Amino acid sequence: MRVLVTGGAGFIGANFVLRTLARRPDAEITVVDKLTYAANPATLTPVLDAITFVKGDIADSSLIDELVGDTDLVVHFAAESHNDNSLSDPSSFIHTNLIGTYSLLEAVRRHDVRYHHISTDEVYGDLDLDDPARFTEATAYNPSSPYSSTKAGSDLLVRAWVRSFGVQATISNCSNNYGPYQHVEKFIPRQITNVLSGVRPRLYGDGRNVRDWIHVDDHNDAVWAIIDRGQIGETYLIGADGEVDNRTVVESILELLGQPADAFDFVTDRPGHDRRYAIDSTRLRTELGWQPQYLDFRSGLSATIDWYREHTDWWQAAKDGVEQKYASTEQVVG
Ligand code: NAD
Ligand code: DAU
Repeated sequence: MRVLVTGGAGFIGANFVLRTLARRPDAEITVVDKLTYAANPATLTPVLDAITFVKGDIADSSLIDELVGDTDLVVHFAAESHNDNSLSDPSSFIHTNLIGTYSLLEAVRRHDVRYHHISTDEVYGDLDLDDPARFTEATAYNPSSPYSSTKAGSDLLVRAWVRSFGVQATISNCSNNYGPYQHVEKFIPRQITNVLSGVRPRLYGDGRNVRDWIHVDDHNDAVWAIIDRGQIGETYLIGADGEVDNRTVVESILELLGQPADAFDFVTDRPGHDRRYAIDSTRLRTELGWQPQYLDFRSGLSATIDWYREHTDWWQAAKDGVEQKYASTEQVVG
């Protein structure tokens, strides 16, 4: 099976490529990636002989037409993915998440190619901390940020291309991923690499915001379950019952690295900061038989800390630039 992976040099896409190479010998993988600041080409260096790598923009419709015409399946990970960046400049989010997805949809429509669309739980907005509800496939869209609204828009484009043009597509909306090869701008790698660099972790607001953590390998196994067994035109929520508040995550990182649990700072909150995400993945589990393998967040976090400790070369070059950018917007408040 020829598989075109968009965004395969980013966090989840690269883990998908590595895991697919290890587990699906029938897959012939082509990666298309623009190599933005978020990509790290070093992740794919060890497997470059086993894949085809194309540097390019998913919004380049003639490039995408050529690549899609030569594949059996598109798995679309490429995106501008960071909420904080979308608040300082939304333009690349409109370009990649909306125009880029449009370009892919037109190509899969022309060539009648199977398409899987990777999306996020953030399209559903947020929940109160004491709300017993969790997001399901029936929850109404209510995105908060420029990032999540462009992801919501891209999901709606997919739904329209399925209904109006018969495109063979599925959609998945996953919760927060953690694991190796995640950019140091994101919460968990930022705090791990802060502590490893002798810098105090930074918590936005009161630190009580909740994210529903899932290991990236569990996410990618769910993506394959949907590709293999999902129903065309349907949406599946991916989550591993991993709700933890941000303060607890930071305290765990500090403890696992042998630091006092209170050695962190509170900083100014993210504007529009979603309070809580929570996924009900019953549909994925009952209809497609998927189960997460990483059931203990603290031990997954510990393995992730070990990975960052052992792979300083992978993240060091990006660290200073990320921290300078954060320093221009955030202030210590406690
Ligand atoms: P990432 O930012 O780590 O990687 C994105 C990749 O896309 C990078 O390699 C980048 O170079 C590439 N890219 C960006 N614009 C491009 C363009 N115009 N053309 C081609 N390539 C381009 O992102 P990630 O965290 O791996 O997220 C991957 C996907 O999963 C995204 O669609 C995101 O919305 C979704 N998602 C992420 C999470 C999470 O916790 N990280 C959770 C749920 C869903
Ligand atoms: O829910 C899925 C989404 O998860 C994905 O769609 C996004 O691509 C991904 O970036 C992630 O979005 P978040 O905004 O939840 O992730 P982030 O890592 O930016 O922040 C996680 C939480 O930690 C959030 O409540 C903000 C907080 N935070 C973040 C940073 C960077 C801090 O308290 N301090 C920080 O320094």
